[in-house]
Amino acid sequence: MGTKRHFRVWRGDDTGGSLEDFQVEVNEGEVVLDVIHRLQATQTPDLAVRWNCKAGKCGSCSMEINGKPRLGCMTRMSTFSDTETVTVTPLRTFPVIRDLVTNVNFNYQKARELPAFAPPKGVEPGEYRMQQVDVERSQEFRKCIECYLCQNVCHVVRDHEENKRAFSGPRFFIRAAELDMHPLDARTDRKELAQAEQGLGYCNITKCCTEVCPEHIKITDNAIIPMKERVVDRRYDPVTWLGRKIFRR
Ligand code: SF4
Ligand code: F3S
Ligand code: FES
Repeated sequence: MGTKRHFRVWRGDDTGGSLEDFQVEVNEGEVVLDVIHRLQATQTPDLAVRWNCKAGKCGSCSMEINGKPRLGCMTRMSTFSDTETVTVTPLRTFPVIRDLVTNVNFNYQKARELPAFAPPKGVEPGEYRMQQVDVERSQEFRKCIECYLCQNVCHVVRDHEENKRAFSGPRFFIRAAELDMHPLDARTDRKELAQAEQGLGYCNITKCCTEVCPEHIKITDNAIIPMKERVVDRRYDPVTWLGRKIFRR
């Protein structure tokens, strides 16, 4: 038999909603998603929550717990003191569908806008050859589980709907960086593209994205800053500028 804990959960839909209070049993070793499932089983059968793997790998159970974007299935109840109220709300940056479920289409739209990997002409599938060192360079970025916690926390779009059109967000900056490091990607310069089309310039390196990433991807240090530095180098370094003029690079 566990102990009773105080939970506050946001209930509502796209027309509005409010926080509801619950006293709910919590057992040793449980995570926040377990408690939400208990609420569904015992008190609120219609409480909407998105989840799938319960192992921190599908990226579905993103929510805000005591104001911090987190995965419900990876947030242990032991994180909080026994007397602390645990408040669970939907991701703030995306429109609510119902209760804890939001519409994350913004991210799929941004994914579609990013040009896909394209090998050089004449290189057929099966003929791709890469050095192991090149495979490893971008391995970190391929750990992304598309939970969109980084997209949700970034102040450029959090509470700034007007920036969404021009800003792709940290998840897609790491995708650009990953492809930029790919020795066989023959697309246009991904750094320039990130600056011109993905809104890289809106990022002022607050690093909130890196802080919330459950895969511990160093989004800012390893993807955003290197891309920014190289864009700035090319644009403002007079020697590079002259070189580009002369050699028309
Ligand atoms: Fe989630 Fe990290 Fe991927 Fe962002 S980069 S979507 S926080 S796993
Ligand atoms: Fe946003 Fe991350 Fe930059 S939180 S401002 S993309 S460092
Ligand atoms: Fe899959 Fe939480 S349920 S990451």
